[in-house]
Amino acid sequence: MDGWDNVVAAETALSDVDGLNGRLVIRGHRVEDLSGRIPFEAAAHLMLDGLLDDLPNEPAFAARLGDARARVFAEVAALDAALARRPAFDAVRALVARLPDGDDLETALQLIAAPAVFTPAVIRVRKGLEPVAPNPSLGHAADMLRMLKDAPASAAEAAGLDAYLVTIIDHGFNASTFAARVAASTRAGLASAALAGMSALKGPLHGGAPGPVTLMLDEIGSPDRAAAWLEQALARGERLMGFGHRIYRVRDPRADALKRAVRALAKASPQLPGRLRLAEAVEAAALEVLRRRKPERSLQTNVEFYTAVLLEALGFPPEAFTCVFAAGRMAGWIAHAREQALSGRLIRPQSRYVGPAPREAA
Ligand code: ACO
Repeated sequence: MDGWDNVVAAETALSDVDGLNGRLVIRGHRVEDLSGRIPFEAAAHLMLDGLLDDLPNEPAFAARLGDARARVFAEVAALDAALARRPAFDAVRALVARLPDGDDLETALQLIAAPAVFTPAVIRVRKGLEPVAPNPSLGHAADMLRMLKDAPASAAEAAGLDAYLVTIIDHGFNASTFAARVAASTRAGLASAALAGMSALKGPLHGGAPGPVTLMLDEIGSPDRAAAWLEQALARGERLMGFGHRIYRVRDPRADALKRAVRALAKASPQLPGRLRLAEAVEAAALEVLRRRKPERSLQTNVEFYTAVLLEALGFPPEAFTCVFAAGRMAGWIAHAREQALSGRLIRPQSRYVGPAPREAA
């Protein structure tokens, strides 16, 4: 079964991925003109503009997102020991599933707030620490980091997380967005669409890749070991996490946006420059090995490679990287779900039956 490579499944005014030219346009803006330039709240507002009747202006939206963080924090009480032992992504998804379903602004705000509140809580409880309540007056990224560390984030850290959340906010009809739109096409509600999106995001071929990137960097350890390690991984038939893409045949523009964010953060962090040097050496070696061993493909760096370096530097453990991805992409899923509900029909493709013919009755 192929992967629907060239199927155009719908029209969207939200984002466009140009894989041949390495260009991502989000609502009329190149991703590199948004990443590092506007906070997450502004990007989420941009995504939702025109899709929710009572969407307030951007400052009021940001304030209401802060209030929504405070409201969804009540669900953290349901994070018992059994749930906290589950993988971090599953625990966050279970807490999101407790939120009410609906199609209105309040539902959208709570869903966008949810992974930013639940992810730090799950990480802390898994470490035996108390969850930290949101501070609605802070910026979304700064508050997420404060809830993680129980200490104020520096301006550089908040800017780094903002750059990440904005960079990954939307990306055409990727697997999770498509899953969210299928759920929305049944008029199931925004929470249902968000949970469909989260479930499709989880796998390592989509949003689950950056955790393994960190493990790969740890195992390689120093630049001189990179080429041999990568050769052996490919010889074992493994895929190199953080490389390759269904659409991009050139470098993913989000990789450069995130590298820029890592470089900015490295100025204020003593360990990060060394880690960045290792990552750059591994990237260069991986591209060379992939070019040689898979000459028929154009396998380039994707968004997940520098995601790993950035989120690690911000203090997130690898097991939570996909949860942070969901914190940004949630705004994209909600926008797509609304676009689908407002303009689309039930998504219901057909399949070709290749099983046995029915037996004739004796
Ligand atoms: N390492 C080694 N080989 C690779 C890689 C890789 N990272 N990516 C693709 N290939 C090889 C495959 O093994 C396959 O060759 P084979 O048929 O001989 O096994 C061939 O290239 C398939 O290439 P594509 O058609 O371009 O790949 P596809 O579109 O099916 O998959 C995907 C894209 C899933 C991203 C793939 O490149 C991959 O597995 N990458 C590693 C995981 C990863 O980084 N995921 C994050 C993606 S970004 C995101 O979703 C947010």
